[in-house]
Amino acid sequence: MSIWVLGATGRVGSAVTARLLDRGDDVVLVGRESGRLREMAANTGLPVIIADTAERIAAAIERERPAVVINTIGNYAESATVIARACLRGGGHYLDQAADLTAVPRLLDLHDEAAAAGSTLVTGAGFGVLATEAVVAALCEGRPVPAEVRVDALASVAVDDGLLGTALAASIIDVLVTGGRRYRNGRLVRSRLGAGAQLITLPDGEQAASSEAPSAELLAARRASGAPDVTATTAMMPASPVVRAVLPLTGRLLRLEPLRRFAIRRLAGTQVKAAPRPRTHSWGHAVVTWPDGTSREGWLRTGEAMDFTAAVATEIAARLARGEGKPGAHTPAAAFGPDLATAAGGRIITRP
Ligand SMILES: NC(=O)c1ccc[n+]([C@@H]2O[C@H](COP(=O)([O-])OP(=O)(O)OC[C@H]3O[C@@H](n4cnc5c(N)ncnc54)[C@H](OP(=O)(O)O)[C@@H]3O)[C@@H](O)[C@H]2O)c1
Repeated sequence: MSIWVLGATGRVGSAVTARLLDRGDDVVLVGRESGRLREMAANTGLPVIIADTAERIAAAIERERPAVVINTIGNYAESATVIARACLRGGGHYLDQAADLTAVPRLLDLHDEAAAAGSTLVTGAGFGVLATEAVVAALCEGRPVPAEVRVDALASVAVDDGLLGTALAASIIDVLVTGGRRYRNGRLVRSRLGAGAQLITLPDGEQAASSEAPSAELLAARRASGAPDVTATTAMMPASPVVRAVLPLTGRLLRLEPLRRFAIRRLAGTQVKAAPRPRTHSWGHAVVTWPDGTSREGWLRTGEAMDFTAAVATEIAARLARGEGKPGAHTPAAAFGPDLATAAGGRIITRP
């Protein structure tokens, strides 16, 4: 039963590969030709498939029919549906770490096709989406539809020396291009990127700055709760007033495709200096308010957010390989319930 890791040399891909190997899974490395990929294959003894576009990866999937495909190559708005469709044509399962409002809805739109094929597709399989979705699902379990939900994704990420890379660069640029979003009266409407800036005091006494961003956490919180009004903030958005003032302008310029590609290339080539995680824990936070004014608050506590992302992807891949997924296209807690976050090493704390 083979599990393919697309982008096996990347931050998420290499961490997931190591975890799958620890479990004794049958892993195949997939990626672009590079010394790094060859070295990884030589060190692990794992088979390699070289493919450098979503279309070529899709052709290999249709030919070889792996049981599960973990897509960590990024640029999900373009790559995810091409690769996921190839999986479901062979009756296999698929997961990715998309966390934006373009790629995630596109993947969820494959629900009927996936259900008909008996395949499970899971998008948002990482800290981004699951850390907040799991808390909302836990707070709303067995309760009526709330009036309002706010979620805060407060990742604490350690950074290694090296280049930023195209996958992360594309994610950052796409946030700027999309601009702010929130749900009002059940409709996704524009808001100012970086609005709602706040300094949140965490349950362990540390603090995190966060502000609104157009993340798929919004969509997942809306689907998990049914609430008509939803806002989502993230600690990954720069919160300084100066940066917030120029963000909408930058976003408008980046909508021009040549400028967008140029910006991704420039950002991808940025040299990043190693830094430890800024806070001890990463936190997902949700506040749910019902029409009668009662409200509940909950937290998901985990360690370094990239570790959690790798643990989530590994746990989902293992469950899919065992045939435990329900056919269709889902976000992680919708597919497996909020306990998935606990199985991946998170702890959910709800009040009252
Ligand atoms: N939802 C979440 O919580 C969460 C968490 C972490 C990351 N993410 C997202 O997950 C994605 C991966 O992140 P990362 O930090 O692991 O990125 P990364 O370190 O840049 O790794 C990307 C990997 O994909 C490969 N790749 C890129 N384009 C490819 C293509 N066209 N064909 C074949 N291989 C290709 C890269 O190969 P090369 O070495 O040749 O470039 C590399 O191995 C990003 O979109 C990121 O935003 C989401």
